[in-house]
Amino acid sequence: MNKIYFLIVAIIFFNSCSTKKVDKADSNIETKVDSVLAMLSIDEKVGQMNQLSSFYNSDPDGLKAMIREGKVGSLLNEVNPDVVNELQRVATKESKHGIPLIIGRDVIHGFKTVFPIPLGQAASWNPALVEKSSHIAAIEARSKGVTWTFSPMIDIARDPRWGRVAEGYGEDPFLTSTLGNAAIKGYQGNNLSANDRIAACAKHFAAYGAAEAGREYNTVITSNQELRNVYLKPFQSASHTGAATFMAAFNEINGIPCSGNKKLLTDVLRNEWGFKGFVVSDWASIPEMINHGFADNETDCALIAANAGVDMEMSSHTYLDNLANLIKQGKISETVVDNAVRNILRVKFQLGLFSNPYVDTVKSSFAADSSLIIAKELALESLVLLKNENNVLPLSTKIGKVAVIGPMSNDRYEQLGTWVFDCDTNTTVTPLSAIRATIGNNKVIYAKTLAYSRDKNTGRFYQAISAARSANAVLVFVGEESILSGEAHGRAHIDLPGVQADLIKELHKSGKPIITVVMAGRPLAISNILPYSNAVIFAWHPGTMGGTAIADVLFGKENFSGKLPISIPVSAGQCPIYYAKKNTGRPADYNSWIPMDKIPVRAPQTSLGNASQHLDDGFEPLFPFGFGMSYTTFEYSNINLSSPSISVKDTLVISATITNTGKFDGYETPQLYTHDVVGSITRPVKELKAFQKIKIKSGESVNVTFKLTASDLAFYKSWNEEVVEPGLFYVWIGPSSNQGLKAQFTLQ
Ligand code: GLC
Repeated sequence: MNKIYFLIVAIIFFNSCSTKKVDKADSNIETKVDSVLAMLSIDEKVGQMNQLSSFYNSDPDGLKAMIREGKVGSLLNEVNPDVVNELQRVATKESKHGIPLIIGRDVIHGFKTVFPIPLGQAASWNPALVEKSSHIAAIEARSKGVTWTFSPMIDIARDPRWGRVAEGYGEDPFLTSTLGNAAIKGYQGNNLSANDRIAACAKHFAAYGAAEAGREYNTVITSNQELRNVYLKPFQSASHTGAATFMAAFNEINGIPCSGNKKLLTDVLRNEWGFKGFVVSDWASIPEMINHGFADNETDCALIAANAGVDMEMSSHTYLDNLANLIKQGKISETVVDNAVRNILRVKFQLGLFSNPYVDTVKSSFAADSSLIIAKELALESLVLLKNENNVLPLSTKIGKVAVIGPMSNDRYEQLGTWVFDCDTNTTVTPLSAIRATIGNNKVIYAKTLAYSRDKNTGRFYQAISAARSANAVLVFVGEESILSGEAHGRAHIDLPGVQADLIKELHKSGKPIITVVMAGRPLAISNILPYSNAVIFAWHPGTMGGTAIADVLFGKENFSGKLPISIPVSAGQCPIYYAKKNTGRPADYNSWIPMDKIPVRAPQTSLGNASQHLDDGFEPLFPFGFGMSYTTFEYSNINLSSPSISVKDTLVISATITNTGKFDGYETPQLYTHDVVGSITRPVKELKAFQKIKIKSGESVNVTFKLTASDLAFYKSWNEEVVEPGLFYVWIGPSSNQGLKAQFTLQ
């Protein structure tokens, strides 16, 4: 009798919860969370901490049974709205306490409408556009029942051999923080329960991008200062911005796997930063602590991860198998589980899932014109012009015939990049189709020549050469297929795969202007094709509307504004290479460096200049962070400081004039860098502190102003010691990390 009574009471209570409008700004989510928690048994609590990859297609009854028994708190990879509604019905109507599921998915750079890969988005330096694209992704994803994305990925990456460099926003903590925050705001908005918003997930916490040699999942050995001043910065910012969830990374940091790192997941994330959401493990990262040699068995893994602060386990089931027993054996406090479940329930309430767990299967709208417009704008602003010899670009639409060549010229899938599970390739606009639409089919001679980017078959080179001979300009689309970047797809060599470089060299013999467009998921070592290309455009994987964006800049309908979010190295041998380097005791310069081929035979050992360099590839990247050309030119002048010195209480105003000295209107992105000349620990030679993206008409001059306070100059000299140190600072305002007007000030 009691059991039935309890059940009736529970259902009545629950309906009262669910009929109570969570969106009545009822801030008492905590009360609701505690009320639900109070009803749960230990097993039911542990069930909320369990996330499964949906196996509805293979065993619908088995999955529904687990949900009915309260063993599943979340699913990932279920994007059939009818299935989501069926499973939510089971969860809320057939389980004992009716707790809805939260459905997760990797909506990394769009759902059906695919935006440029995040690294490409970062090249736009346009937070507003990144926010808009994330909002569109949220609209499309939630319309399929997804209420949680495992994005943004805000791992700092300074080694393009790493496959996942594609998924982040590059090498710089300030740019990554700014764009990661924009993505979180785009996904979450101000009201997570709205049907066009989804929960974000700041990942992978932390320092995943520092894996040795860019080898996936590999060891991270770094200093506490580097962690604090570089790798944790974007996550601190994401927590402050209100990311609903975090994801623990696969890697270890200095011997401690992130899934078992209490210092990271609890001491810093919760106690220092005040994070109130929940932490999910990465796919099986909890039992992988056995492989790491950090746990004996899965019971240990569950104990270590739960105590460290992982609230939900993704795909593996060490929690489901062990936590209840560990509590009953007194080996882990039930409070640990209560806190984890509270964090999870809190996000479910914030998402409005208790009020309405269902998705309106009729409403979903994909690739709406408005979405495609944003996709094209973001693709356009992601394009980086690296070379434009004798202003060969833009081409005239009256140029006559153009040859369109290469494996990336007309591939609806490959230009989308990694993590595009839900893409719709039917809406992809390829460069070939956009160029044909721009100048007319009859003006385009198309010769794909290589079947795919890794193709080593030179047998169709003759087709490309013939096309080039009949054309007035040659547009070559090269790069990487999508599968060559992304998770577990690191490359030791980062040259153009296959025989693409050979193809460009052959085409150069035609004597026609060669315009090379590179589509890739990482910076590529393209020094070998530079001499054979009159112009080079880096397009990343530009997404659904990439072709239109590329055609618009090629024929001058639009101007470039992209700037590199990551250095492009001369070779893999230079990696890691980044602008915010330390000066070292022997900084290299072009006076000391003698290129290897110029070293005299029998040169005496001490004759080469002992500095921090490579004999062959020198000491600078091929193209630096922040670099990007335009069809116009911008001149910087009149840098001015509001004062030659400031106290820790003051604000320093730095300004400069930027003049568009060319014929085209254009966007310029002035960047503000500082250098702390002497510190209690060595400080980077430059650090990005601010940027603006401003439109400047041809002939126009604008005054750009930045503000700096002492807190902008703070850094961690040790794990727990954040300081601002007086002394001399250099400051630059410029178009990239290696150009700009320099001034100095003293912090008293
Ligand atoms: C993967 C990735 C993570 C992703 C998760 C779910 O292994 O590391 O970024 O969100 O599994 O697909």
